[in-house]
Amino acid sequence: MIIETRTIGWGLAIVLFFVAQVGGGQTAASAPALPDFQGESAPAGAIWLDSLDLEQTVQSHGKPRAGTSVDKRPMTIRGVVFKHGLGTHAVSELHLVLEGCATRFLSMVGVDDESGSPASVRFIVEVDGRKLAQTEVMHKGDAAELISVDLTGARSATLRVDDGGDGIAADHADWAGAMIVLAGDSRLRPRAISPAGTEPTMKIASGVPPEPRINNPRIVGTTPGRPFLFLIPATGEGPLEYAAENLPSGLSLDARTGIITGSVGQVGTFKVMLTVKGSRGQTSRELSIVAGAHKLALTPPMGWNSWNVWGCAVDDAKIRAAADAMVKSGLAAHGFQYINIDDCWEGRRDAHGEIQSNEKFPDMKALADYIHAKGLKFGIYSSPGPKTCAGYEGSHEHEEQDVRTYVKWGVDYLKYDWCSYGAGAIPKKSADLPALQKPYRVMRAALDKADRDIVYSLCQYGWGEVWKWGAQVGGNLWRTTGDITDYWSSMSSIGFRHADRSSFAGPGHWNDPDMLVVGRLGWGPNLRDTRLVPNEQITHITLWCLLAAPLLIGCDMSQLDPFTIDLLSNDEVLDVDQDPLGQAATRKAQSDTTQVWARPLADGTLAVGLFNLGGTTTQVTARWSDLGVTGPRRVRDLWRQMDVGVFNDAYGHEIRGHGAALIKLSKP
Ligand code: GLA
Repeated sequence: MIIETRTIGWGLAIVLFFVAQVGGGQTAASAPALPDFQGESAPAGAIWLDSLDLEQTVQSHGKPRAGTSVDKRPMTIRGVVFKHGLGTHAVSELHLVLEGCATRFLSMVGVDDESGSPASVRFIVEVDGRKLAQTEVMHKGDAAELISVDLTGARSATLRVDDGGDGIAADHADWAGAMIVLAGDSRLRPRAISPAGTEPTMKIASGVPPEPRINNPRIVGTTPGRPFLFLIPATGEGPLEYAAENLPSGLSLDARTGIITGSVGQVGTFKVMLTVKGSRGQTSRELSIVAGAHKLALTPPMGWNSWNVWGCAVDDAKIRAAADAMVKSGLAAHGFQYINIDDCWEGRRDAHGEIQSNEKFPDMKALADYIHAKGLKFGIYSSPGPKTCAGYEGSHEHEEQDVRTYVKWGVDYLKYDWCSYGAGAIPKKSADLPALQKPYRVMRAALDKADRDIVYSLCQYGWGEVWKWGAQVGGNLWRTTGDITDYWSSMSSIGFRHADRSSFAGPGHWNDPDMLVVGRLGWGPNLRDTRLVPNEQITHITLWCLLAAPLLIGCDMSQLDPFTIDLLSNDEVLDVDQDPLGQAATRKAQSDTTQVWARPLADGTLAVGLFNLGGTTTQVTARWSDLGVTGPRRVRDLWRQMDVGVFNDAYGHEIRGHGAALIKLSKP
């Protein structure tokens, strides 16, 4: 193996073991010249690095880019432009699985011209765990260097960019014209994987105890006089029997199913004592029913939405199957209540302008009844524009009429998605707040005229810093970002950007960082497992619970594997999301690859998340001084559901690459 890096003299060819394929399957050494790295097509026998799945790159800032700089500009190092390569940001890491299928890695490397002046990075290549190439610290304006590493027989390689020792500020780093020369005799192809994909999975508690337990939510709101529906979420060895003391007048409980129905007669807060009896004993817990105007979503909504799994391949049977599985999987008993159809249910309007469902939804009222009979709630989707995002009929100028139809069907939740509204006339991120708010106010007014409680979910991708005014226009939740995908880069960049948005969330009005990307997903008819590795999924749920985010499962409910069920049914973790205080977490400490977030809970305890954003195992420490607490605290590990001891001023935990721990600090 050969370690080589050097600055290339432009126009000057350097002989560096670049192996090109020549006729008849023979190979011969030739010299790479700068144009070889700048071309449109890769030299014979080689593939561009950016033909692999570069989304798997782990980096401390921004998103990995194929063929552009990290800020999506043409990849440029000291004025020289490259069409292919990985545009990344330090600290960054990409793992290549080779299994002997490659003979050489070649790349020009350097700081992109778009960077600010403090940029300083080092490029490193490790092969089968051994460092075989490392540049000196490179700065903005340095000429690109060539890295050339022998991969013959190698099983794996890791491409790293470090911060040059001075932090990551402005460190836009380019693997420019990066290519892999293939072994002529191998049928395998290189694969890019997240370094975190090679880490062992962190332990989380599995299964539910046989003793009866009453789960979240502990507080629920309703408008007096309107239909009320609530399934008491309870687990334990059955058959379970349910009882409720002090139910407000107008409500009644089915002792066999645990479903409370009716409508509350008057304004007030009713402290109801629920009791659940099973074959292993009985338990009681208080439920507050708050009756008044605009009292919905007092905790973040929990449920399922069809989009991330089915996209437009959704139909009536799939929605019924999701409702069936919500109960059968046990997740309804952990507080997941909503079964929401996203886009693509809409048909045409009839002669009176009334919206019809399309042929895939033959009878919406019957579908809603089916869902309600299980104690679950029914959600639907529309857009303020003439068309939805998928091009179906929107609610434009039919807002009140559509709400009347939703009431007739029995809708409990509306996701209202900007899409075609304004037809581009409104600058997307404009400060023209009245224009951004208008369609949401119109629908709020329509909902207020309805004689039914409908949770109102705003979706306009965070424009105009919606978190600052979503509550003012009557939203119960608002999407804070564009659509999530099941890549670490997408999930983590969405989740961790909420540090300064926490104060805008609270009971009845929540930041929505989008739906969960765990389990089997597809955004269409063909499903596959989430690309997030298990530790990344633990981070996803930990962060969403700390953020007090809505928990809308996005996967095929009928194909939940045991890990996904454990991930979604850990009541100590869900307790954090559903905490009645409703105060979302803020970031308390951060380094290049670690973060600590904390969220005060209603009982005076503190939920703390320890995150490792790097690809490999590292110690993450929550310091009391960062958390603003003092004195000895009992620490409970919520994912493992066990007490880990009393700590005086800090708690440290080894966290796997891309993993997280969620702990709770006792009161002083
Ligand atoms: C937008 C939304 C998604 C989904 C689709 C449906 O992209 O952000 O969540 O609702 O529309 O078309």
